[in-house]
Amino acid sequence: MRIHKLAAIGGDGIGPEVIAAGLDVLETLATSDGGFRFEVESFAWSSDFYTKHGHYIPPGGLERLKEFDAILFGAVGSREVPDHVSLWGLRLPICQGFDQYANVRPTRVLPGVKSPLANGHEIDWVVVRENSEGEYAGMGGRSHRGLPIEVGTEVAVFTRAGVERIHRFAFGLARTRPRKHLTLVTKSNAQRFGMVMWDEIFFEVAKDYPDVNVDRELVDAMTTRMVLKPATLDVMVATNLHADILSDLAAALAGSLGIAPTANLNPERKFPSMFEPIHGSAFDITGKGVANPIATFWTASMMLDHLGEHDASRRLMNAIERVTANGVHTPDLGGTAKTIDVTKAVRKAILDAAKSGTQQLEPLKQAT
Ligand code: IPM
Ligand code: MG
Repeated sequence: MRIHKLAAIGGDGIGPEVIAAGLDVLETLATSDGGFRFEVESFAWSSDFYTKHGHYIPPGGLERLKEFDAILFGAVGSREVPDHVSLWGLRLPICQGFDQYANVRPTRVLPGVKSPLANGHEIDWVVVRENSEGEYAGMGGRSHRGLPIEVGTEVAVFTRAGVERIHRFAFGLARTRPRKHLTLVTKSNAQRFGMVMWDEIFFEVAKDYPDVNVDRELVDAMTTRMVLKPATLDVMVATNLHADILSDLAAALAGSLGIAPTANLNPERKFPSMFEPIHGSAFDITGKGVANPIATFWTASMMLDHLGEHDASRRLMNAIERVTANGVHTPDLGGTAKTIDVTKAVRKAILDAAKSGTQQLEPLKQAT
């Protein structure tokens, strides 16, 4: 029996709701497989916890997390704590402390989901986001506070090692996809140091991946290309902030932020990787039971792949696509289903497929 140790951090807002749904579905997958099981420990680190204890991660907390094979993370961000405090208190210490430098964001329009684009069915992308430095390096400062001469700097830091490893990761990923196409996204016309270095290193690394087709786009032009010519894109690699913005656009074009998944990977597996839905805390719907758990399920499928459970990962993705195709949709997708309805439907689809021996089915073809 293969055992996977999972740390579950629900965090804030709808985070705990979708993580609970995700754990239910993972349990169903494990029991219907029989070859593996999860040992789950939940951590109550959140903004409430911070308000009570003065920290998000207690002393020694990161050391504890190191014992796990993967981290399933909900969301962080609350009305009570400034966003930059919560982000730097919980999520970034894990991403940066565990050197999860490759942030992977696949985007597809799932069957039964409507893209705002007429040609939305052509979307099949993976956004690779540099996740350890760049605009999120935490470098900068403020002085002369409150005076007319007040200064604030926010320094983007790019290192050769950091840029080269994300490019190598993106090329490696592009190589595994049918189209083997990688688009470099920067802003090297206006930003002539770090961004020009990004471009140079990209083309140096490209020499080691002659089977991958490449092209490049400036980040502003990339937004129009994503909307107007989605079929020309496959994998894209961009800086921390550029890819943050592009991946929200990608999620909206795929129908809803409520379905978009993320993996924060430490590809060398020196530390656990972290898997999370992109959507964030969503206070407007917190506690109403209507959060879309699909982003967490898709995220869980990425986690299963990372853990080597490729069959379970495929079974979960099949179940998700069957449920979205059948119109069991939460309000963000225009439906009236609750979190629990979608969760039950996905669990049932997993069990039905296991019973009828169809777990090897490839994902359903894209509905257009
Ligand atoms: C994301 C989010 C975060 C980010 C926020 C919550 C700070 O937007 O994961 O894309 O910018 O990294
Ligand atoms: Mg974002």
